[in-house]
Amino acid sequence: MAIDSNRELTDSEDAAPRPATGSPTERLVVVSNRLPVVVTRGDGGAWETETGSGGLVTAMAPVLRDRGGLGIGWPGTPESEGLDEALERAAQGTGYSLIPVPLSPGEEAGYYRGFSNEIIWPLFHDLQSHCNFDPAYWETYQSVNQKFARVVDERTGPDDFVWIHDYHLMLAARELRGMGVKSRLGFFLHIPFPPLDIFVKLPWRFEILLALLRYDIIGFQTMRDRRNFIQCVRALVGSAETCGRGQVCDLELDHDRLRVGAFPISIDFKSIEDGARSHEVAESAWHVHENLPDRQIVLGIDRMDYTKGIPYRLEAFRHLLTHHPELQNRVTLVQVVVPSRRGIPEYDTLKTTIERLVGEINGEFTGQSGWIPIHYMYTSLNHCELLGYYRAAEIALLTPLKDGMNLVAKEYCAASLEESGVLILSEFAGAAAELQKGAILVNPYDVVRVSDAIHQAIHMPPDERHERMRKLRRSIRRRDIFWWVDSFLEAAIAKNLDSFPVVADYVPDGAPEI
Ligand code: UDP
Ligand code: G6P
Repeated sequence: MAIDSNRELTDSEDAAPRPATGSPTERLVVVSNRLPVVVTRGDGGAWETETGSGGLVTAMAPVLRDRGGLGIGWPGTPESEGLDEALERAAQGTGYSLIPVPLSPGEEAGYYRGFSNEIIWPLFHDLQSHCNFDPAYWETYQSVNQKFARVVDERTGPDDFVWIHDYHLMLAARELRGMGVKSRLGFFLHIPFPPLDIFVKLPWRFEILLALLRYDIIGFQTMRDRRNFIQCVRALVGSAETCGRGQVCDLELDHDRLRVGAFPISIDFKSIEDGARSHEVAESAWHVHENLPDRQIVLGIDRMDYTKGIPYRLEAFRHLLTHHPELQNRVTLVQVVVPSRRGIPEYDTLKTTIERLVGEINGEFTGQSGWIPIHYMYTSLNHCELLGYYRAAEIALLTPLKDGMNLVAKEYCAASLEESGVLILSEFAGAAAELQKGAILVNPYDVVRVSDAIHQAIHMPPDERHERMRKLRRSIRRRDIFWWVDSFLEAAIAKNLDSFPVVADYVPDGAPEI
């Protein structure tokens, strides 16, 4: 039977209970490069902890709070003295514990900045020209994966479910199995998995692929990523039979069997919605609008990252103001850029590019009225400010060149209490698959089309805004972060894969007649 993965759900499906969770006797051990908190020395020399930024941390914090267990990861500092106690304090009352894996400056350089962020990050986002394939990085990547594995080995037992996250730790299962660890090992890749033609450029393609096969289950963000992975396995490792339909399937190889699934990560919808309803957030939204009276606000919020497509977005906004001069004075782009991965050359250059472009566009259009077309902020927002911007913005403009998911898109919808916001989203964000029915999807490289999309959003009738946002909110509410974690853990133990639903897929269509 053909399954339409993109149809809207009926009310009874919408209300269907979540799948049962993994065995209650198992402890959940979440292993990721970053702990949910970053530890730094305060002015007086004492340890201080703050929440980290980025999608992985946002997603995993409520999971650990909800389920308890153990979090293992890098605390963001090379020092280890007094760290255990500082993390104990940070986790007090949360129901989970945090175990640090401190990295030396050399390890941070080779494994984190180097192999993870100068090789895997750009390559897996299809941006191979940004890669620096320095062979020394590979050595450190291997030894740090081994280091993480040793900590996991020391701190866990055979009844734990060890769930390893993201591209920093692709070799961890290989190392753990080499140490004789018998626990079930799951892996979730938060970033895209590239197509074969791109993956084969990786000098260590066989080692990485074979190491991934040592996991019991691998989760990807989208059906596209899962397809790419299976294609790479078939081309580089050998014929692999699949069985099971829908979200999860088993890959049968000559000597291995691996479960693979598409599990689109999400947000704690209710917590964002409740937060957005608070008095403090309403005030914060009011302040944003008071500073920009009578203007429609178009909002971009991203980490400072070349995958986010910020320069193309700024060019699209310039195109809009040039070709629709009547919008000058009436629309403002608020672009928040969160500092990220400083010290990596590509990131430092990007900051200069963005700031030059913002200056140029503001210089070109700012007139006597005092209107400034782009409000650029290079800062990290607190939760209340973040929700305030979501609530204040009539339009969200999120146009990554490629993105594993893009949680900002989902958070914006969850905070749109009046259901009047418009989401313009890149078709290359993982979230496009689920949100294609309500968002305006754009090719981020196509500045003319992005400019048209902003124009369309500004003039969208209230009924259409409402109808689109209702669909978006409904699908995000239904498949929130708890649905995500439950489905992954259930898939890790399920005997019958037919009970898993299909998840939406996205393939660009609507080709014009040429
Ligand atoms: N975020 C943050 N601080 C900010 C702005 C955003 O922590 O000042 C959060 C935002 O709420 C979201 C995450 O950072 O949950 C970004 O996740 P996304 O998936 O959009 O992109 P990523 O940064 O993981 O590439
Ligand atoms: C993305 C990655 C995460 C990472 C986050 C922030 O979301 O998938 O693994 O934690 O970016 O990047 P950072 O390098 O600061 O951890």
